[in-house]
Amino acid sequence: MTVEAGVLERYSAGAESIQADLCCPVDYDQELLTLLPQEIIDKDYGCGDPSRYVKKGDVVLDLGSGSGKICYMAAQLVGDNGKVIGVDMNDDMLALARKYQTEMAEKLGSNRVEFVKGQIQDLALDLAAMNEHLAQHPVHKAEDIIALRAWQENQRKESPLIADNSVDLVVSNCVLNLVHDSDKEQLIQEIFRVVKPGGRVAISDIVSDEMVPAHLKQNQALWSGCISGALQEHDFLEAFIKAGFIAVSYDKWENQPWQVVEDIEFRSVTITAVKPQNEPCIDKGHAVIYRGPYSEIYDDEGHVYLRGQRMAVCERNYKLLTSETYNNDFIGIAPAEPRVGKPWNCATGSLRAVAETKGGQHEDKSNTGSCC
Ligand SMILES: C[S@@+](CC[C@H](N)C(=O)[O-])C[C@H]1O[C@@H](n2cnc3c(N)ncnc32)[C@H](O)[C@@H]1O
Repeated sequence: MTVEAGVLERYSAGAESIQADLCCPVDYDQELLTLLPQEIIDKDYGCGDPSRYVKKGDVVLDLGSGSGKICYMAAQLVGDNGKVIGVDMNDDMLALARKYQTEMAEKLGSNRVEFVKGQIQDLALDLAAMNEHLAQHPVHKAEDIIALRAWQENQRKESPLIADNSVDLVVSNCVLNLVHDSDKEQLIQEIFRVVKPGGRVAISDIVSDEMVPAHLKQNQALWSGCISGALQEHDFLEAFIKAGFIAVSYDKWENQPWQVVEDIEFRSVTITAVKPQNEPCIDKGHAVIYRGPYSEIYDDEGHVYLRGQRMAVCERNYKLLTSETYNNDFIGIAPAEPRVGKPWNCATGSLRAVAETKGGQHEDKSNTGSCC
């Protein structure tokens, strides 16, 4: 049996009845659960809670939405102007999630959740549309496969299931590990493609502390049970950096492993990251001061920030470093005199002369009072 066939079979069973060995204890926000039907809460095969990162007005995409639990939680947070899309490849899981759609729309006050059929490593291809196409154009011979490939290519381009730069926040709960290793790089590139510039990801998943050996990867039950397909903890972060994300972080890290197999620890983590703004680097005279506690730090684009020094940054990085993404690690100082910007290659760290920023507006979110 292939990895995909094993995953389909296991989660069809999970939609039918509760699979206790797939359940990992998670501390969800109880208030968000009160609106949810019990069956959705019970058929929970997640390992974290990415719904905590949802903001009002977000367009949220949930990869491997299963029973729809995270989607229905997120729907309460996005409000009337937001939208939630759940993607899953399993018809039984989609049917379970959709079973409560009308009831949930009434409770929420609007129908702001949609469930679509797709593989998360190929988010442009609409599998429901492909099924309709195959009903009209069944595959009988090699030439039919060639024609099907051409149809798929056209479909991805002309009617993508999830369009480029269309999502504010991609979430996922215990699904990336299930994707075949050879498709994992494409999966993360797909996530990058669909997120808007400046958009975010919050992904809860299982990672291993050591590389998983081939004989464990070949164990179908361990794979579909969210264990042996897990990426190694460093490789998981690196995959997002390689795809182009910045501010890539482990936001949650369970001390206690969920499972230990052959002395390899498999634990639940949540990573967060941001897609950089698609703006050129323009020098208008901004500076940031890194507060510490480390003597210096580097960002994912290779810029260095020395503790306590006014470091020169372009306007784009100034906005990013003084945003909530960086948790108030930086004090921002706007130029004293607004000036016409010029394109800039701020590849490494350079200091900003005090005279350039003296008298400029300071952005310090911790500074709530005034002295004396
Ligand atoms: C471990 S369950 C998690 C379900 C849900 N996120 C939750 O928190 O309960 C994995 C889900 O991902 C789906 N899935 C697995 N691999 C997938 C893929 N490559 N593309 C789309 N869905 C996938 C499965 O059908 C299943 O519904």
